Amino acid sequence: MNVTYFGHSCFQIELGGANILFDPFIRPNPLAAQMDVEKILPDYLLITHGHNDHLADAEEIAHNSSAFIVANWEICTWFSERGLNLTHPMNCGGTFQTPFGSITMTQAVHSSSLPDGSYGGNPTGYVIHAGDRCLNYAGDTDLFSDMQLIAKRHQPEVAFLPLGDTFTMDVISACEAAIFLNVKRVIGMHYDTFASIKIDHQAAITHFANNGIELLLMDIGETRTL
Ligand code: NI
Ligand code: MN
Repeated sequence: MNVTYFGHSCFQIELGGANILFDPFIRPNPLAAQMDVEKILPDYLLITHGHNDHLADAEEIAHNSSAFIVANWEICTWFSERGLNLTHPMNCGGTFQTPFGSITMTQAVHSSSLPDGSYGGNPTGYVIHAGDRCLNYAGDTDLFSDMQLIAKRHQPEVAFLPLGDTFTMDVISACEAAIFLNVKRVIGMHYDTFASIKIDHQAAITHFANNGIELLLMDIGETRTL
């Protein structure tokens, strides 16, 4: 799989012949000013919850790409009201079978209101399967012990975990989450964008390494093949 980082919690993953984009927040993010939003043309646009730092560019990207918007019922309805009808509404526990593989919606411990204040449903994460590859994208969340059930059912090989503290778990809890998920590789997200979520990169990488886990903190605009 090829993973491209667009800053904050936004990644595009090329897997099984499909491009899957998670939680776009690019135009409002000064750290991602060099990224070309017009050139981001995913097949699937996955949104974890209603907060603006997870869907700021979703409407524009969906218009440009005719990507399927995958999100909970309330967020899909909100996009439909804005004329975006190519949606796949789900709720926690559900799986969307696609030509490239499957998308399962999982729970998250967070909140979810939409930018206009309307109800955004429950916050979520995702598990993606394609062939023998499997990844977990946690969304914004605290640590919760039921992450062990994701490992039991899905056996992800890599987890995308928030670790910037303040609005999500911190580095210590994210490392515990990786242990619950039984992954040996983590891609960090939801850090450095705002003053309140800045982290010490080397300290974070060292903490994970001391627990036998590789933490990748990607550069914005970087693509890695995993
Ligand atoms: Ni949030
Ligand atoms: Mn957030």
